[in-house]
Amino acid sequence: DLSPIDIAKFAAAKRASGFVEDGMRVGLGTGSTAAWLVKCLGERVQDEGLEITAVATSSQTAKQAQEVGIKVSSLNDVKWLDLTIDGADEYDDELNLIKGGGGALLQEKIVATASDRMIVIADSTKKVATLGAFPLPVEVLAFGMPTTQLLLEEMLNGLDVMGNKATPRMAGDALFVTDEGNHILDLHLGRIGNARQLALILNQVPGVVENGLFIDICDVIVTGYGDGTVETRD
Ligand code: A5P
Repeated sequence: DLSPIDIAKFAAAKRASGFVEDGMRVGLGTGSTAAWLVKCLGERVQDEGLEITAVATSSQTAKQAQEVGIKVSSLNDVKWLDLTIDGADEYDDELNLIKGGGGALLQEKIVATASDRMIVIADSTKKVATLGAFPLPVEVLAFGMPTTQLLLEEMLNGLDVMGNKATPRMAGDALFVTDEGNHILDLHLGRIGNARQLALILNQVPGVVENGLFIDICDVIVTGYGDGTVETRD
């Protein structure tokens, strides 16, 4: 039996899987909602013989895709995609997002940016008036990470945000390591007054590889509800 939140995630994923057509080059997101999408697409591959060129946004998704019978290609070979479908940690009215709760933000942003269209699938709890309650993930180089942390906290003092604490993401007792071999600092901002500005400024700090703000990247949001209904916004 599925919980209401899983019913919501599944409903959004199921609807979005209908946007995928034969022959498309498709980016596959990461996380628990994207996992439902991969499951749905795997079923279409088995049942309808759907043929797609898939690119995964994480090693975790690549593994799951292969397990359900989806052949996974490399972005280096495919270069450009028709469509990417991924989850999000938060989305606002302008379809701007916070992503990276699962730690895959760098590959997710590269893949989404390399797509004609990005569709986000989410349960309704992800919708916010203002981004920032969810800690903003920032992927940073291991080299000088404590310095990068200081620089980020210092920089945040001058901006329209509520908090300025940066905390290293952990995996048990060790630092979390991304697919690209980097670490993550989670920024506890509470509220982001100007997400567009913050997204640009964060990437100016030398040790920062990428941040989890997706501005003007998402084209459509498919929201699922606990009763299995779905709402689409673009
Ligand atoms: C992975 O890095 C994230 O960007 C996910 O897409 C995001 O955290 C949403 O995950 P869930 O679907 O598990 O909530």
